[in-house]
Amino acid sequence: MSGPLGFLLNPQPPRQHPYHLGGLSEILNLHALNEARAEITTWPGYAVTPLVALQGLASKAGLGNILYKDEGSRFGLGSFKALGGAYAVLRYLKKEVSRQLGVEPDTSSLIRGEHREITEMLTVVCATDGNHGKSVAWGARNFGCKCVIYVHAHVSQARRDAIAAYGASVLEVKGAYDDAVRKAADDALENGWQVISDTSYEGYTEVPRDVMQGYGIIAAEAATQFPAGVRPTHVFVQGGVGGVAASLCSWFWESYGSDAPRFIIVEPANADCLIRSAGAGKPTPAAGDLDTIMAGLACGEVSVIAWEILREGADAFLTVTDEAAASCMRLLAEAPFGDARVVAGESAVAGLAGVLLAATDPEKRKALGLSESSVVMLVGTEGATDPALYEQIVGRSADAVRDSMLQVADA
Ligand SMILES: Cc1ncc(COP(=O)(O)O)c(C=O)c1O
Repeated sequence: MSGPLGFLLNPQPPRQHPYHLGGLSEILNLHALNEARAEITTWPGYAVTPLVALQGLASKAGLGNILYKDEGSRFGLGSFKALGGAYAVLRYLKKEVSRQLGVEPDTSSLIRGEHREITEMLTVVCATDGNHGKSVAWGARNFGCKCVIYVHAHVSQARRDAIAAYGASVLEVKGAYDDAVRKAADDALENGWQVISDTSYEGYTEVPRDVMQGYGIIAAEAATQFPAGVRPTHVFVQGGVGGVAASLCSWFWESYGSDAPRFIIVEPANADCLIRSAGAGKPTPAAGDLDTIMAGLACGEVSVIAWEILREGADAFLTVTDEAAASCMRLLAEAPFGDARVVAGESAVAGLAGVLLAATDPEKRKALGLSESSVVMLVGTEGATDPALYEQIVGRSADAVRDSMLQVADA
């Protein structure tokens, strides 16, 4: 299939059966999420991220409310990815230590370096376009192993430096994200390293499942933050390989059953593997050249286990342009309709770009059941993770936007 797709209702009617009957709970489930949550919430620096109500913007778009879960402050790493990669590193190290010692170590003993003689001999590796690699490198430093991260040529120096700051070796690979994924897998095999990938492929699903289970905290936290008596009717969430979207989708579907919100997956027009896969009914590569400012979403191939969930749980797929993303970053920074200002990076705003596109287009609005009573949840998946690019797009630095927030609050 080639040419623009742009908007597609899932040809497979979603949620025809309870979550567990679809066999999907073997991929992600609340039991494993609770395990991840019990672990991650004990880490130093854990804090619930804010859920910001963008009521003014919602009214302007003819919607009831927009609830924006702002992941920009997650563990000081700037994105939701802090939850996944680092958790998978920890799970791997615990397994290795317990394999060698016969007892599972607790997290604090790893943080204190009590098993360094084992963990220092281990190396974790992954491909990244920025955020996932930072999480893996951070996890490796916190829990005491070595780390090698592969980036492609378009990953900015600022993003590489942020990873190297956690002590990882950062190596460049020719090609795009998917080439870096393959290189990480090949080198791991050759050197006896452990791949900690956020994407799954045939024969490699266990670690990405841990990564996605860590992301589940976003939905679990949000559910405790919704205004009393309010549940979202729609979730617009951005997709790279589909991991975070599948994680949210599974949480809402398993927790709310037939009351689960509609799920709309939003991708860059140039990195459209999820909508292509939905159209073809099977994993299908992106048709675009993956050249987009939304670096975290520049993925050419779906994660196979994420895809299995989205195939059944997503209601629709949308693509958005770089221009739409840039103007949504400015919109959140300027907050012209009286909402709180938000610092949001390029990949954070795809969901917002998608809902504004859908809400103002009569055909899409009707097809998705959007109305003045709709409550839309978005996940702002990153803050200004590339500060120079943020300033170039928004016209002000992230700090200047934050300062103006404080002035508004003081006034
Ligand atoms: C900021 C940001 N948002 C969204 C995504 C997409 O996540 P996934 O690849 O799990 O779909 C990424 C992936 O790196 C990201 O960095």
